[in-house]
Amino acid sequence: MTKHRIALIPGDGIGTEVVPAARRVLEAVGARHGLRWEFTEFDWSCRRYLSQGAMMPEDGLERLREHDAILLGAVGYPGVPDHVSLWGLLIPIRRAFRQYVNLRPIRVFHGVPSPVRGAAPGEVDFVVVRENVEGEYSEIGGRMNRGFPDEMAVQEAVFTRAGVTRVVDYAFELATRRRGRLTSATKSNGIVHTMPFWDEVVAERAARYPTVSWDQEHIDALAAKFVLNPARFDVVVGSNLFGDILSDLAAAVAGSIGIAPSANLNPERTHPSMFEPVHGSAPDIAGRGIANPVGAIWSAAMMLDHLGHTRAAEDVTDALTAALADGAALTPDLGGSAGTKEATDHVLELMAAAA
Ligand code: NAI
Ligand code: MG
Repeated sequence: MTKHRIALIPGDGIGTEVVPAARRVLEAVGARHGLRWEFTEFDWSCRRYLSQGAMMPEDGLERLREHDAILLGAVGYPGVPDHVSLWGLLIPIRRAFRQYVNLRPIRVFHGVPSPVRGAAPGEVDFVVVRENVEGEYSEIGGRMNRGFPDEMAVQEAVFTRAGVTRVVDYAFELATRRRGRLTSATKSNGIVHTMPFWDEVVAERAARYPTVSWDQEHIDALAAKFVLNPARFDVVVGSNLFGDILSDLAAAVAGSIGIAPSANLNPERTHPSMFEPVHGSAPDIAGRGIANPVGAIWSAAMMLDHLGHTRAAEDVTDALTAALADGAALTPDLGGSAGTKEATDHVLELMAAAA
């Protein structure tokens, strides 16, 4: 029996519906693969912010630190500004635990039609590697002259050699284990300091990965190619902002934001990594039992993979793939009529049947 301590942060809205679904799948797959889970559930959320004035307690990061991984639903609640929920919980976790890689796989599944005509099921399968702790999302800057006509705001992007090198290396290494193709997102024609620097580091590191063929694309053209020819991509690496936008675009190409997973990785494993569906708390459908659990379940599969349980992770993604293909797990966002529970039940049935 391998034991893992997992911190669960369901968060707000449908986060509290999809995290329990992912937990059920982890329990089932764990039983088959000799894994024992010790879950600790935290109520950190916008609801907590509204009643206690903070998204998480002061010693929140210390309490998370003793876990092997974190599974998060989503945070966000009408009436709480989004920068409060983001900077009060998600960003402190990503930064304190050096989760400098944000990994977002994109697949077009059989049974989930893409809104993009050329995106055939089984052919679109790529990964966006987003830099997750620096770049455009910096705390450096400020506002002056608030309320006057000369009001101004300045925000500095921060790119460090160490920060760009480690995420680019991660992306190249990932490409060597996949189809050997890497695309770097840039904008060095318009952003004349940080982006040429990014490009230089990519070119330097590329020399160490002779089996990977790589190119760079300006972010605007790359966005167009994601729509026009998504099957050509294997690994795409981008800065914090570019990676954020590209991965949501990619999730839309895959058919629904409800199925997209993500991992915030500390590749050195000196700190816990965090796994979360790409979607938010979806207040428009929260509480109705119809949230798509696939993004959360797939995120749990990425957690299994990170913890070294590759076979268990494959069992989960195989069951997800089959459940989407036969139609019985399709929630309303995918044109089906299954609820969160029925969809999860179906995934569990297929997993049991494959055993
Ligand atoms: P959202 O992802 O919550 O919802 C966008 C649309 O997609 C909605 O129509 C929603 O019903 C639908 N949707 C999302 N996930 C779904 C699922 N699993 N099943 C079925 N339909 C799904 O994004 P939105 O509306 O922009 O943000 C809502 C709140 O979530 C905001 O407060 C935002 O800040 C927060 N948010 C939090 C994130 C996080 O915790 N990582 C990420 C994105 C947004
Ligand atoms: Mg986003």
